[in-house]
Formats: sequence, structure tokens, C-alpha cells
Amino acid sequence: MKIGIMGTGYVGLVHGAVLSSYGFPVTCMDVDAAKIERLADGISPIYEPGLDELLASGLRDGTLSFTTNAKQAIQSSDVIFIAVGTPAKEDGSANLSYVQEVVQSIGKYANDYKVVVCKSTMPVGTNRGIARYLDGVLKARNAPFRIDVASNPEFLRQGKAVGDSRHPSRIVIGTENEEAKLRLQSLYDVHIRQDVPFLYTNPETAEMIKYASNSFLAVKISFVNELALLSEKVGANIQDIAAGMGLDDRISLHFLQAGPGYGGSCFPKDTQALIDVGRKNGEELYVVRAAIAANEKQKLKMVHKINDVLSFNGTLKGKTIAVWGLSFKPETDDIRSAPSYDIISGLLGRGAAVKAYCPQGMKQAERLWTDLNGSVAYCENEADCAQNADAIVLMTEWEQFRENSWDTIVKSMRGNAFFDLRNMFAGHAHVRRLFDYYPIGSNELAYALEEAQ
Ligand code: UDX
Repeated sequence: MKIGIMGTGYVGLVHGAVLSSYGFPVTCMDVDAAKIERLADGISPIYEPGLDELLASGLRDGTLSFTTNAKQAIQSSDVIFIAVGTPAKEDGSANLSYVQEVVQSIGKYANDYKVVVCKSTMPVGTNRGIARYLDGVLKARNAPFRIDVASNPEFLRQGKAVGDSRHPSRIVIGTENEEAKLRLQSLYDVHIRQDVPFLYTNPETAEMIKYASNSFLAVKISFVNELALLSEKVGANIQDIAAGMGLDDRISLHFLQAGPGYGGSCFPKDTQALIDVGRKNGEELYVVRAAIAANEKQKLKMVHKINDVLSFNGTLKGKTIAVWGLSFKPETDDIRSAPSYDIISGLLGRGAAVKAYCPQGMKQAERLWTDLNGSVAYCENEADCAQNADAIVLMTEWEQFRENSWDTIVKSMRGNAFFDLRNMFAGHAHVRRLFDYYPIGSNELAYALEEAQ
């Protein structure tokens, strides 16, 4: 079975590379010629652990190829995955223009039976709309073949994309068409052998599962973040609360890590898009709306928290703040909707000088956050970043931050405040003693007990 992947973003590229590693011939197509040229040389446009190796072996074995030629990619494939972006529009709705372009090309160039699989996150009804459109085009062309459509949402996480793609939590196949289902099953045979759960639904349900999953995770994070703010006020410890809640397996401990707010290319976009689907169908989604509002509040509260400790006369003028980590999570260079942007902007707005270091995110920050260029000093490493600073703000929990010579760092600083927005060092007695340590969701009261024990 020959595979075509339309779109070489996170989902398309990782999915294509993984399928090629199973021996399927995969053609990845993208309209970005410079990106395709680099990919054909084995250079990945994104930082994703394990991806470079997959690209190299796919190119070496000849199972993976890259093209800008949509016609060739479509005609040479039996199964075509649509994996282009569906970014948020101003009003929160999903922008489907890239999907439309691909679907039009498929309608125009398809030369025999194809299964079109929607991997991109698409609002409810899109799959059925694509099927209807393609039917109409083929009829108008008097084409002697069909095109079947299936929804097959992707649940991979950035930073763990290759592993998630190889060992997914579930495979959702949304189609009413038997042939499409069988083709996808034989493509995912490796997962059937690994006993990965398969869920067969209609296209609308599959589309909703994706939005529902991401929105529910966003709700969980916002819930715990609000409780973290309250815990700081009442002397409770959010990490222990999360542990206590998580022991109930109806709740589970996952996604109960308090932090500076969720970010990334999915949660902010998909929560907005789900609200938009609700609005268009006359249903107000209060819970999702509250999760978004709480997330915005959380970022603002982080600025207030830092300001409350460091400011003089309500401003941060004369203070230098060292920000550790810019990407929205570790092991990725992605800074889309990262809370670091809002928090840095808030600190700058209060007059602080900001230095920043991120193991992977700085190139993207300089490229995309042009309004911050000139205001933020990007540094070589975290120690360099902390030098002469009044405070460290740990924004993203990169593992490398654990290994530091803390005595040297604190000596090189002007002040000694440490805002650990990920609770990375909450259990690190030495760091807590050396610095004026401010974790998320607990205060001295909560620690007094631990220290006494
Ligand atoms: C998410 C979903 O997890 C994935 O299934 C889907 O396919 C795409 O969207 P991703 O955006 O890569 O994946 O990151 P994820 O690990 O889910 O984290 C998203 C954001 O939530 C990050 O900013 C992270 O720091 C934050 N987060 C996550 C928390 O603040 N606390 C948590 O407990 C978990």
C-alpha cells in the first residue's frame, strides 16, 4: 500500500516517517519548497527526539520521499493522509483553507480509487463535507472510481511524537465505509498486534473525540491551576493535593501538574474551535470557556506573583529577571502560544529587564516574537542567563536545568529569588535553602511541615 501525506508539519512528518519505518512507501508533500528541499536532504524543520534518525533511515532505504508536486503525490498513493494545519482564525474558528486546497487537488488529480484520511484536527462535519465534495467532483469528471473518506485523529504529543506514534493510546477510525476501514486496519496492523485499542465510529464522533480529549485535558490543567492559586493563600500544597486526588483512578494523576498555564499548538486552538462548533450549533460550552479564561488568568497571576515579591512602588524598573525555558513544554523548540510570551511581555510592561535562555526555543522566539527583539537578551545557557539577575523564573521544566552548580549561580546573581513555575525543585532542599524559593501552589506553611519531619 502506497501512502501520500499532504502537509509536513508535526503530525504529517512524524506520521509519514513512522509509517515509512514499517516498510510502507511514503511520499510527503508540502507546498513549502525550501522545507521540502531540506527534508529531502534529511534535515528536519522541527526539533523532535528520534525524528532525525527516522528521516535518515527512510531516505536511505528509499521508503520515504519528499515532493512539492501534489499531482504526483496523489496519483502515486493508495491512501492519502491530510495533515495540513487548521490554525485558529481571529474568531476562534478553525481555518480550513489549507484543507480545502488539498481536497481540491485530490478531486482534480485522483486517477483511481483512493482512501482519503483526515489526520488534521477538523471541526465536526468536515469529513462528511469532504466526502460530499469529492463525490460531486468525481461525478462531474465522469470518473469510473470512488474516493472514500475516513477520520483518523492524531493524539501525539510534541516532544514525544515518535514514541506516541509508535505506541498510541488508541486508534480512532471514523468512517461508515468498509473499504476505508480495512485499508486503515492493514496500515495499522502493527498496532493491532500491539493490542492498541481500536475505536470505530462515525466521522462526526471521531472529530469530536479529538476536540473533547484536548479540551478535557485543558480543563484538568486549568482546574488544578486555580486550586494552586488558592492553595498559596490557604497554606495547602498543590502537589500533595494532586497526589491525593490522583490516587482515585476515576480522576488519575495525569495532567494535574500546576504551572504557568497551558500552551502549544493544540489546547489553545482546539478549545477555541470547540466553543465555535458549540456556538454554530446553539450550544454554549461553559466548562471549556471557563478553562480558557482560567488559563489567561493564570498567566497574569504569574506576573503578579513575581511583581509582588520584586517590585518597588509597584514597578519592576531596575530589576533584571532571568527566564529559564521559552518553549511551551520541554523537548520541543515550539513556542506557539507558550505562556512564556505573555509572562515576559507582562514583566517588560512593568519595567523589568529580561534575559532568557531556552535549550531549543530561542531561534523560534527571535524569529516569531519580533516585538520582543531588542527587549529580551538571549543567553548562552542558564548560568549565563542568571548572572547579575535579581530573580530566576523557571518557565519550562527542561531536564538539563536540574544539573547546575547552584552555589555558583546564586553567587553570580544580584538577588536570590527563584520562581519555580513548574515546581521542578520543590523537593530539592539545597535549592530551597539557597534561594528565596517561590513554587507554584504552596507557601512556607506547607513547607514548614515537611521541614519539621
Ligand atoms: C496535546 C495533547 O496531549 C495531545 O494528545 C494532542 O495530540 C496535541 O495536544 P501537546 O500540545 O504536545 O499535546 O502537549 P501536552 O504535553 O499535552 O502539554 C500541553 C500544555 O499543557 C503544555 O504547555 C504543558 O506544559 C501543559 N501542562 C500539561 C500542564 O501545565 N500541566 C500538566 O499537568 C500537563
